[in-house]
Amino acid sequence: MRHKATEKPNRIFLSPPFLNGDEIKYIQEAIASNYIAPLGPQVDAFEILLKECTGKQYVVALSSGTAAMHLALHAVSVGAGSAVLASSLTFIGSVSPICFLNAKPVFIDSDEISWNMDPLILKEAVRDLDRKGQRPSAVIPTDIYGQCADYAAIAETCAEYEIPLIVDSAESLGATYKDKPAGNEGAASILSFNGNKIITTSGGGALLTDDKTIAEYARKLSQQSREPFPHYEHNEIGYNYRMSNIVAAVGIGQMQDLEWRVDKKREIFKTYRNLFNDTPGITFMPEAVYGRCSRWLSVCLINPKDFGSDRETIRMALEDENIESRPVWKPMHLQPVFKGARVFGGAISEKLFEQGLCLPSGLDLAHGDQERISTIMKKCRK
Ligand SMILES: Cc1ncc(COP(=O)(O)O)c(C=O)c1O
Repeated sequence: MRHKATEKPNRIFLSPPFLNGDEIKYIQEAIASNYIAPLGPQVDAFEILLKECTGKQYVVALSSGTAAMHLALHAVSVGAGSAVLASSLTFIGSVSPICFLNAKPVFIDSDEISWNMDPLILKEAVRDLDRKGQRPSAVIPTDIYGQCADYAAIAETCAEYEIPLIVDSAESLGATYKDKPAGNEGAASILSFNGNKIITTSGGGALLTDDKTIAEYARKLSQQSREPFPHYEHNEIGYNYRMSNIVAAVGIGQMQDLEWRVDKKREIFKTYRNLFNDTPGITFMPEAVYGRCSRWLSVCLINPKDFGSDRETIRMALEDENIESRPVWKPMHLQPVFKGARVFGGAISEKLFEQGLCLPSGLDLAHGDQERISTIMKKCRK
């Protein structure tokens, strides 16, 4: 019989929050300052840390990554009826904001070298739409599982057709693309700090940009589009998307050891790869030559023919031992909610979904836990 998760204290989670102890100091400072509000010195300080880390000129700390994507798309004028080209292999928060603005998502498949948006398929899609007289209003590549998309190749197509590029770096803080930090590309990019991310604020996100107009407009939209009057004056509809000062205090604490976090995630990945070195049928997410992946999650592919059982059998076996793992994102073009949406390619992301398993990647994961996980997985071989 299965037990409820709450009855199982020793559960190994996929990517639980990891507190380093500094957070409480900054929370206490926030409380002492009485900025218990969606603004304050901790929000300002957190934004500065994010600017330093990503190399972007402007950072707007927000209530979630989804909110950040919504504001980014709004700020580059994504409008009703327009097409937005987005990675199919992603989390829905990356693309639901397209629908908030009544625009139409068009999905682009992944390539095999990075699992991210295939720049060649993107080019094909843009050309195809162009021939029909359609100009997409934005392109959204996701940096999947800590690996940057091929920014330069994607940016080239966007520049050629003058399409705003919005990079979803929710999963890649701390990674690099060539000499750039993750998120340092495009008209804007976004981060997420939800509970399972490499740093968490419990829930939160940020919009990053070098464009002052975008930053100021996004900040205004996030505060109910209030005009600069002493009373409350509004010329357009905005949102309530600002980050709370207490939440930002957690973020400041988490940012103190980001480099260590990336190193640790990479070490976890390396350990898994070594443990499965001679196991036929198990391969790991490749690292693209152009960058350094943060390995936010360690992800493997299980080829059922060579391994002897499939991804779901392994996932259930781990679950029976109170270990959380998760299938790779179900591509957006297969999601019932996007039935009928156009997709360019699709076979790669479908295969990654069918065979891909995200393994426990928490920062407190012990070597012994990883050995146990690999033993359980290997026992599934028939
Ligand atoms: C790729 C991707 N995009 C967007 C989001 C949305 O972020 P949030 O959960 O902070 O709204 C997430 C994370 O949850 C994500 O993984």
